[in-house]
Amino acid sequence: MKPSRYLRSPFLFSFWNNEGKLVIYNYNRNTMAEISDDVMKIIDTLSQWRNVQQISDILDFSKKDLTRALGHLIRLKMIHKNTLADEDIQSHSIVWDPIDLAMQRQRSYGGRFAMSKRLGKSPSPVKHVKAISSFVLPSPGNIHDNKSTLLKVLDDRKSIRRYSDRHVSVDQLSYLLYHSGRIKGIFKSKEGTLTKRPYASGGARYPLEIYVVNNSISGIQKGIHYYDPLDHKLNLINKNTSFQKRFNKFIMDVQHPLMNREPDALFIITAVFARTMWKYEKLGLSLILSDLGCLYQTMYLVATEMNLAPCPIGKTDEETVSKWLNLNWFEESHVGTFMLGVPKEA
Ligand SMILES: Cc1cc2nc3c(=O)[nH]c(=O)nc-3n(C[C@H](O)[C@H](O)[C@H](O)COP(=O)(O)O)c2cc1C
Repeated sequence: MKPSRYLRSPFLFSFWNNEGKLVIYNYNRNTMAEISDDVMKIIDTLSQWRNVQQISDILDFSKKDLTRALGHLIRLKMIHKNTLADEDIQSHSIVWDPIDLAMQRQRSYGGRFAMSKRLGKSPSPVKHVKAISSFVLPSPGNIHDNKSTLLKVLDDRKSIRRYSDRHVSVDQLSYLLYHSGRIKGIFKSKEGTLTKRPYASGGARYPLEIYVVNNSISGIQKGIHYYDPLDHKLNLINKNTSFQKRFNKFIMDVQHPLMNREPDALFIITAVFARTMWKYEKLGLSLILSDLGCLYQTMYLVATEMNLAPCPIGKTDEETVSKWLNLNWFEESHVGTFMLGVPKEA
């Protein structure tokens, strides 16, 4: 029998914790361990596939100690044994920078918001500058006599998390998607075919995709649908109710106690990372998240104009969404969620 071979995950970070202990973290799998200098030396040999004998030849550690340490590292998903765990390395078109990947996964795994970890007082929401002098700007009301619709919508925009007994209609859903997410035009550029949409996107790369989870809109099937922005169509992708229940529970848990019930529709927003990273490389992820802000604001404004209840969700659930939509999360993954309902009457 051939001896087992080992390789380290490409997504390991090491740092020293507050007690000065060496810690390794696999951001891709959200696992962490305090390790000794000797274990670090073992990991260091595993930039290429090696068996216990080969590691022992390099480090002069006993095979028994090595086998024990390797078993521990396998359990913590820090290293691979014989084959690459498919969740770590698959055939995908992006070579993820470990720092970017850490940030992307942090949005799913991070955010427990423990009060105990907050240092000092909440920072001031406004900046107080020492100015040389101050100039009070003219009243904005002096330019236009009447408020335009846009300015009224901007003033009225707010996050609403409590819903009435009535439900969003399929016409309202269509209106929102059309005015915030559709493809308005296609054009050719030196950097490939690009699109025009209602919101802005860095380099017009438009990496974001919208999936509609229908909880209670009548006229369309329950389940998760891909919004086809070119033909303004919903394509049903998965009717599996257990994923839908799991995701709704995730939302209700994150939001507790702010909401009275599940929203009528959830927009799950994913990014096809390569569209932006192909051109912008390490700048890519920050552009993608800036695009997300543009899309959110556009959806907020259209929903406000329609007197509906909009609200985004900051935390992501990449694992559920990847399984639900059958995505390779290195290629396309969850970056945002937007909820929609009819506001509860005040
Ligand atoms: C990126 C982003 C993430 C947000 N995440 C959440 C969230 O997880 N839960 C929530 O209830 N509101 C969320 N919101 C809404 C904010 O709480 C809200 O915009 C803020 O409190 C200001 O209130 P307003 O939108 O009513 O003006 C989010 C907003 C943004 C822009």
